[in-house]
Amino acid sequence: MIVAPSLLAADFANLADSVAIINDSQASWVHCDVMDGVFVPNISFGFPVIEAVSRITDKPLDVHLMITDPGRYVERVRDCGASIMNVHFEACTHLHRTIQQIHRAGMKAAVTLNPATPVMALTEIIQDLDMVLLMSVNPGFGGQSFIDHTVDKIRCLRQMIDERGCSALIEVDGGINAETGRRCADAGADVLVAGSYVFKAADPRAEIACLANL
Ligand code: DX5
Ligand code: ZN
Repeated sequence: MIVAPSLLAADFANLADSVAIINDSQASWVHCDVMDGVFVPNISFGFPVIEAVSRITDKPLDVHLMITDPGRYVERVRDCGASIMNVHFEACTHLHRTIQQIHRAGMKAAVTLNPATPVMALTEIIQDLDMVLLMSVNPGFGGQSFIDHTVDKIRCLRQMIDERGCSALIEVDGGINAETGRRCADAGADVLVAGSYVFKAADPRAEIACLANL
């Protein structure tokens, strides 16, 4: 599995230590959660922090934008070092245009679906995507419980991608641990995001390895 630890659960007073753990682990990417206090009822961190993280890691940055109208910031996200720009389906009025802008800026484009948004909403855009992120909690906070119905959505999306011969990866975010991660992997997920499970653990590297080897 591709593992993308989420910095949201890291100790922000010692962020470099958390990035060093990711650097020295089986994690493939660094997941950065940006919240604007409008699209979600919380505010996390923004561009200066992502830019600082990019200076101390060679792992690709997977930037998950929980903000309204993320298309306004495509170049800004690229310039702070992102490899993957993840925008919410529910936050984009002109999603196709935003995906084009992300690709033109030289990043991989991913679309995120909230728990209540059906996979079928992607039928007209799936062929243009590098990845789909299925939220397995309502976005805005770490440490929530995995929503079981996500497993059915993963299976449905896996079928859509395979039937249409698309190459989009399936990423899952929220409440991921060894048990829920196993269920996601079995259903066809490619990428697991994990915050609390990794950074609240005594040995974060071991938990990353556990997810990577599911
Ligand atoms: C939630 C964020 C997640 C969060 C996951 O809105 O998108 O990336 O960090 O945290 P855990 O793994 O603790 O559920
Ligand atoms: Zn996230």
